[in-house]
Amino acid sequence: MTEHHFYEPRNGHRTVPGLAHDPLNAIVAPRPIGWISTLSAEGVRNLAPYSFFSLYNYRPPIIGFTSTGWKDSVANVTATGEFVWNLATRDLAEAMN
Ligand SMILES: Cc1cc2nc3c(=O)[nH]c(=O)nc-3n(C[C@H](O)[C@H](O)[C@H](O)COP(=O)(O)O)c2cc1C
Repeated sequence: MTEHHFYEPRNGHRTVPGLAHDPLNAIVAPRPIGWISTLSAEGVRNLAPYSFFSLYNYRPPIIGFTSTGWKDSVANVTATGEFVWNLATRDLAEAMN
């Protein structure tokens, strides 16, 4: 028998028995981690991991990341118009996490 679950995201996954965690966060996995580095308007350096990131196009080159709230990386990008996308490789994984 095939096991399946169904939920309405607007009602939350906890309304469904057996769905302890939100499946949307795990349904595309594994995801490489973008380690987003930015500078604040005052020049303070910032580095933060984002799993919601991707390469969207190559001509023109478009990369992006998604923040689940107004975080420092977003504030810095808004202030400076720039970010650097760094790939968190295996040897950096523990430090990144
Ligand atoms: C592996 C990993 C992946 C993450 N991915 C995201 C993400 O895609 N979007 C997000 O908003 N936060 C993500 N976070 C949480 C942010 O890294 C965390 O909120 C961080 O403090 C944001 O830093 P900032 O405020 O300097 O930008 C992730 C954390 C970890 C450890």
